[in-house]
Amino acid sequence: MSVADDFSLTRAGSLTPLNTFRVAARAEWLAEVRDAAEVPRVLGRPELRDLPCFALGGGSNVLFVHDVPGLVLRLANRGVAIVEEGGETALVRVAAGENWDRFVRWSLEAGFEGLENLILIPGSVGAAPIQNIGAYGVEAREFIAGVEAWDGEAQASVRFDNVACEFGYRDSIFKHRPNRYIVTGVDFRLPRRRPLRLDYAGVLQELKAMGVRQPTAVDVARAVETLRRRKLPDPAQIGNAGSFFKNPVVSQTELAAFRERCPEMPAHAYGGDHFKLSAAWLIDACGLKGARAGAAGISDRHALVLVNHGGATGEELWALATRVRETVAERFGVMLEPEPVVI
Ligand code: EPU
Repeated sequence: MSVADDFSLTRAGSLTPLNTFRVAARAEWLAEVRDAAEVPRVLGRPELRDLPCFALGGGSNVLFVHDVPGLVLRLANRGVAIVEEGGETALVRVAAGENWDRFVRWSLEAGFEGLENLILIPGSVGAAPIQNIGAYGVEAREFIAGVEAWDGEAQASVRFDNVACEFGYRDSIFKHRPNRYIVTGVDFRLPRRRPLRLDYAGVLQELKAMGVRQPTAVDVARAVETLRRRKLPDPAQIGNAGSFFKNPVVSQTELAAFRERCPEMPAHAYGGDHFKLSAAWLIDACGLKGARAGAAGISDRHALVLVNHGGATGEELWALATRVRETVAERFGVMLEPEPVVI
């Protein structure tokens, strides 16, 4: 292992403590970089120069099915700064290595509104644009003004504005090029006032149960926090990566065809003329909620969450995920797509 002030480099570095599934895996080389300016210098080292590089954030959206050849680079840079204050909104620059949930709490304490529905999502700020994280009717792309990344192909630092990020449902340009871009920082345009989003199932009921009549952004954050703690297994207690499957997005015609076969299938409008089917409902309907194959399982709290009951390998988890996909496809004719990056 070599250690400098701003980075450390380990051969055959263990990824086990660095992924929330807690599966055992090793990186051929593992680098932790505390200053984004060090990224090109680390990548340019003779022993790393020709290797593929995978950027790892908080490790909460990845399943390692085997050891990772090449370099795994973990950015651990820090910093949150208001760079432009404009009255109604402010531009806030956040280092990729910051923790997402801590940033959401910082934004609420600093008097911004908008990120409250996104509280308690595990992972780093740098990972937020990669899969355009979202919850309770809000997506990160609504607030992302720009993304700064190191482009390993062009060997240069590049900046993407919101449109260039090509955001989609749990998707972006970065997700399609996991070995090309290393996100080093994200700029957010945060409003001082924003209409609250309370329409997602459960939020209003939770506020009511809290006895809140005229909710503030902070109240909504508390309600979402309670909902998440109740519904989703805590990765600190049981290995998981949140939702393992995306909700299939279908057209109106496709939805009508599904509904003919299965009238009770829930669906939610998404992006104007499309609909999201509920992957959790499909898995549940196949009787797979709570299923187990050795130490790999489907959570008994939420059918979308693949869990490691302790000691499961990445291969075992992936085998169970494959069984779930095949069962749902056979029964409903829909192939579920994994949400995390599977390596
Ligand atoms: N449902 C079931 N069985 C279950 C769970 C849910 O049938 O075990 C059905 C119910 O009909 C329920 C519906 O699924 O009403 C939707 O469930 P939920 O509100 O939990 O939302 P989701 O679509 O399953 C998505 C995100 C979550 C996010 C929640 C809340 C994806 C892939 N997942 O789940 O995100 O927290 O909405 O906004 O879009 C994540 O990405 O890791 C994640 C946890």
